[in-house]
Amino acid sequence: MEHRTLDDRGLVAGEFDEWSFLPDLAGKVAFDDDLRVLGDVDVDCPATHDFDRASLQRAGGVTVVTSTDKGGAPIGMTATAVCSLSATPPTLLVCANRSGAIARNLGCGGHFCVNLLSAEQADIARVCVGGSSQRENNKFDDAQWSQDDFGIPSLTTALARFHCVAADRIPIATHILFVGRVNSVCLNENGGAALAYREGKYLSLA
Ligand SMILES: Cc1cc2nc3c(=O)[nH]c(=O)nc-3n(C[C@H](O)[C@H](O)[C@H](O)COP(=O)(O)O)c2cc1C
Repeated sequence: MEHRTLDDRGLVAGEFDEWSFLPDLAGKVAFDDDLRVLGDVDVDCPATHDFDRASLQRAGGVTVVTSTDKGGAPIGMTATAVCSLSATPPTLLVCANRSGAIARNLGCGGHFCVNLLSAEQADIARVCVGGSSQRENNKFDDAQWSQDDFGIPSLTTALARFHCVAADRIPIATHILFVGRVNSVCLNENGGAALAYREGKYLSLA
């Protein structure tokens, strides 16, 4: 397999435009034919504490990502590390900590649902964070939860629901990056403000 490296301007010849200028990586990384980095990227990085503090400044839309465990029981986690990747075909990304039930149970081909919370649903977000006092099966006691055709918890009052199949699961550091192919969406036509999370607080985003 041909391996490519970045030139002294941080560019892979002919592949990237100016926006991908990465001078710090020049000579330090090698790519395969799909431009995936081979091995670890050896760059200076901030302390985890500084990274975490800076990341808390970012407001994230709050979702609850749901699925089922290997025995068919519902599982879910409050998640802000979710984003749209592509509209054609509809595809989204979810980053799930390896220690959580989603990462431990969801395999390629498995069904999951991304429930986008409204500003009134901070209590649901709190319940779905889990923790020692929150048993997994109590997360879905609220009457707003139903099940989709595959038995996946689906929040009927969510601003939007994205029903997905896991097309890929990519381990990266402490997390698993799930690529979800969206097979249906349910949009709450009443709309309303979204729930966001920033600096440890839930906020209403009109
Ligand atoms: C606002 C908020 C956003 C979160 N976002 C994520 C996330 O994107 N990915 C993740 O793995 N955990 C995230 N967490 C933590 C998980 O909700 C929590 O650790 C998880 O539900 C625990 O899963 P478990 O009950 O399966 O162990 C977030 C927590 C909060 C409060």
